Amino acid sequence: MNEWTRLDVTPIPSLSLSGVGFAHRGQSLLHPVDLRLAGCRRTLVMGPNGAGKSLLMRLAHGLLAPTAGRVHWEGHLPRQAMVFQRPVLLRRSALANLTYALAIAGTPRRRRKPLAREALERFGLAALEARPARVLSGGEQQRLALARAWLARPEVLFLDEPTSALDPAAIKAVEDAVLDFHRRGTRIVMTSHDLNQARRLADDIVLMVGGRLIEHGPAETFFTAPASHEARAFIRGELIW
Ligand SMILES: Nc1ncnc2c1ncn2[C@@H]1O[C@H](COP(=O)(O)OP(=O)(O)O)[C@@H](O)[C@H]1O
Ligand SMILES: [Mg+2]
Repeated sequence: MNEWTRLDVTPIPSLSLSGVGFAHRGQSLLHPVDLRLAGCRRTLVMGPNGAGKSLLMRLAHGLLAPTAGRVHWEGHLPRQAMVFQRPVLLRRSALANLTYALAIAGTPRRRRKPLAREALERFGLAALEARPARVLSGGEQQRLALARAWLARPEVLFLDEPTSALDPAAIKAVEDAVLDFHRRGTRIVMTSHDLNQARRLADDIVLMVGGRLIEHGPAETFFTAPASHEARAFIRGELIW
């Protein structure tokens, strides 16, 4: 059975970034960030292009080592998955992309295909299981990446601009999937530069501008009473550097 919820398990460990910075060739790309993400919340990291959103995500997920400060999980190291703007897929069929992930995760061979097929079905990809992943449309590839994340039953799901290359129907599919993960007890940390998307999905907002964390708080406060002039400008659509 591929259905799962995380309701009966231990709490998701909090993630704390303490003075986390990233410099490259003497240039500070991310100025020291203090950020704590706790509970089963949907946090949207927002900001204009080049703000440092992807850097923050890669540091938080452990794909990149900070040049300053410390990334720390309070408790156990959680199951995590990350979904990128351009899905990272193997040169294999849609089905094989999923069975391979299950093999890596140690799932017994006889269980792999049934689980993979259930995940394909859930994301509307059942008819495409034999198709090479590389020839799927952008929306289909992103759903395949989500199906792979689904199989990991993540406690924390990072998504870096997962919808910015997609058409409206594909965006809706990704947003529905995000909500479904969250309903099952997964913490969501997602970047976006789309204010309407943030209004639809966010419990909390982190605003990044120019490599700095400007603001972090509840979405309602962010939209109704932003604390910073950067947030006010961003909400008015005036922050595009
Ligand atoms: N590995 C890297 N090496 C050098 N510069 C980088 C690296 N990653 C990102 N940058 C630079 O850091 C800045 C922030 O990038 P990024 O986090 O991708 O922004 P965003 O995702 O908000 O658009 C950009 O100026 C980008 O060119
Ligand atoms: Mg980015």
